[in-house]
Parts: sequence; structure tokens; C-alpha cells
Amino acid sequence: MKKVGIIGVGEYLPKKVLANADLEKMVDTSDEWITTRTGIKERRLASNDEAASDLAIAAAKEALSSAKLAPEDLDLIIVATITPDMPFPSVASIVQNALSAKKAAAFDVSAACAGFVYALSTAQQFISCGVYKNALVIGSEKLSSVTDWKDRNTCVLFGDGAGACVLGEVKDGGIVATYLGCDGSNLNLLNLPAGGSRIPASHETVDQRLHYIKMNGNELFKIAVRTMTDAALTVLEKAGLKFSDIDLIIPHQANSRIIMAVAKRLGLTEDKIFLNIEKYGNMSSASTATALVEAAKEGRIKKGDIVLLDAFGAGLVWGAAVIKW
Ligand code: UT7
Repeated sequence: MKKVGIIGVGEYLPKKVLANADLEKMVDTSDEWITTRTGIKERRLASNDEAASDLAIAAAKEALSSAKLAPEDLDLIIVATITPDMPFPSVASIVQNALSAKKAAAFDVSAACAGFVYALSTAQQFISCGVYKNALVIGSEKLSSVTDWKDRNTCVLFGDGAGACVLGEVKDGGIVATYLGCDGSNLNLLNLPAGGSRIPASHETVDQRLHYIKMNGNELFKIAVRTMTDAALTVLEKAGLKFSDIDLIIPHQANSRIIMAVAKRLGLTEDKIFLNIEKYGNMSSASTATALVEAAKEGRIKKGDIVLLDAFGAGLVWGAAVIKW
């Protein structure tokens, strides 16, 4: 089996900033509540003419340039997203066309907030067994398009953005282990009810606001802490490593209290946790992706470091990965 590593990173965050103070004018909330309950201060919003593919393409271009590869070098494009431009074709197809990545196969992965780790692990399998050489993995979301801006329980949480990585064969290190999982018995805790084949779009579904994210945050919170802790323990065991070996944990950014509770259970100090939730809120698949990209760009990850990705979301699904940088 070949060793597979991240050889290029890129991101794109829309320019428009929506601060907690702006939300105070939209729903019955406060900067104080949002900050203390979630750790979020502001989030980015894509413009009306930007879809998930536009964010993905911008992040992909930066990742390709950082990997010093041309689009024609790509064999595979996987986009993790739950806010595709349209139900079909895939965002990955749109990205493939925009980049002119002529020889790349392309598909989307739907695994909500764990989507980027699912996509990373999928791409790794293709390269490690020698089927493909280079893969582009993107987490891209325009969650503002499915956010109910009248529901204070959810609208303060989400944002838009994209992060991308190019994967290729490496001599040392790379992805050491991954662990993916699902418990479909709790589908109802976080979903977007209408617009699919179960409840197709109709005037009624629009009137009932069924095209927006519905979430039982309180229940999810407890499961998130438990599941992310277990996923971290399992992937480390698969990697044959101990917690003291971790240089940086890059968790899904749903709530800083969830992240701190997981870190406490794992005995990790604050300097070993990467956070960007304050700037961007929860961007589902794009959260882990941009956090990894920013940690690399900011020099928080150095060559040889052990990085742990740990994500959890709707499905319920979880994904963790250990990477030697
Ligand atoms: O990304 C995938 C997975 N997602 C998650 O894991 C999200 C997990 N859940 C959470 O992050 C938290 O549960 C939330 C941030 C969503 C909510 O925090 P909480 O501490 O669990 O609050 P709560 O839902 O228990 O609500 C506490 C109170 C309620 O008022 P009452 O009933 O106690 O009077 C809510 O109505 O806070 C109220 N509340 C708000 N108040 C001001 C809920 N949203 C807001 C708001 N501003 N935006």
C-alpha cells in the first residue's frame, strides 16, 4: 500500500460578515448568549450569485496551486456537501468542468459535518491501492441557503465557506488511520425535512418552512461529546498512538463548549486544540476542512506533527483521522 498525504491546501470564505450584533436585529438573541453558548462571534455569508460550487472552485484553485499541480493532474474530485447547487448533477461535476480537470472522476459525498473526513478517507483508499495518483477533496457549504433566519435556535449557528486539500503519494507520514461511523437511529435530531423524494417541494412545504435545517441542539450536544471522544480514542488506537503523541486536534466546529468537553475527556490542553468557530460558525463539512487548511497556513502544524481530525454531524455520522504531517 502507498502512503497518502496532503500535498496542497486551499480555502475560500465569502467576504460578507454577519456579526452577532447583526443577528440581534433579526431575532430575539444577544451577542452575550451566542458567545457564551457557542463561541461564535461572526460568520460569513455567500452572495446571492454564489453557490456551493463557486466556493468549492475558489478553494480548489488555491489547493492546486499550493500542491503545484495542474487540473489535468487530478484523477479524482470528491466534494463533501449537504448544500449542493441542485440535487443533481453533483457539485464535483461542476468543479471538474470549471477546472477543466479532464481526466478526473468526480462525485459528491453526503455525510454532513463529517463529510470532509469521509471524503478524505475515500480518496485515500483510491490512492493507497494505486488506482489513482492525485485527488482533490473539498468540503463546501452554503448553509445560509437552508437556514431559517426566523429561528433563533439555529440561525445563529451556521455560516458559508469551503476548504480543499490535494491528496497524493508521500514518502513519509501521511494519513495514518481513519475511522468512520454512523448511527442512523437518530435521524430526527438534525435534518432538512422537505425537497427530497420523501416530501417533494410544494407550496405547503414552503409555507411550513420545511426547507430549512431543523435541530434538537440540546440532545445532539450530549451525543456529540460522547461520540467525538469515542471516535478520537478509536482512531488513535487504530493508528497505534497515544494521546500524548497528538500535536494538534482539529475538531468539527459546531460549538466551542462541545470541543472543550471533548478535549477535557481526552486530557488535551487548550494549546493542542484548533478553533476557528469564532470567525465562521458551523460550516458543516467545510468546518473541519477550513480548520485543517488554516492550521497548516498559520504554521500551527509543522512537518512530522501528529494531527487528529474529529468530526460529527447529521445522520448521525462521525469521522476521525490521524495524519502525520
Ligand atoms: O454540527 C453538527 C452537530 N451539531 C451540534 O452538535 C450542535 C449541538 N448543540 C449545540 O451546540 C447547543 O445545544 C445549542 C448552541 C444549539 C443550544 O445551546 P444549549 O445550551 O443547548 O441551549 P438550549 O437549547 O438548551 O436552550 C437554552 C435556552 C432556551 O430557553 P429556555 O427554554 O431555557 O427559556 C432557548 O429558547 O436558550 C434559548 N435560546 C436562545 N436564547 C437566545 C436558544 N437559542 C437562543 C438564541 N438566543 N439564539
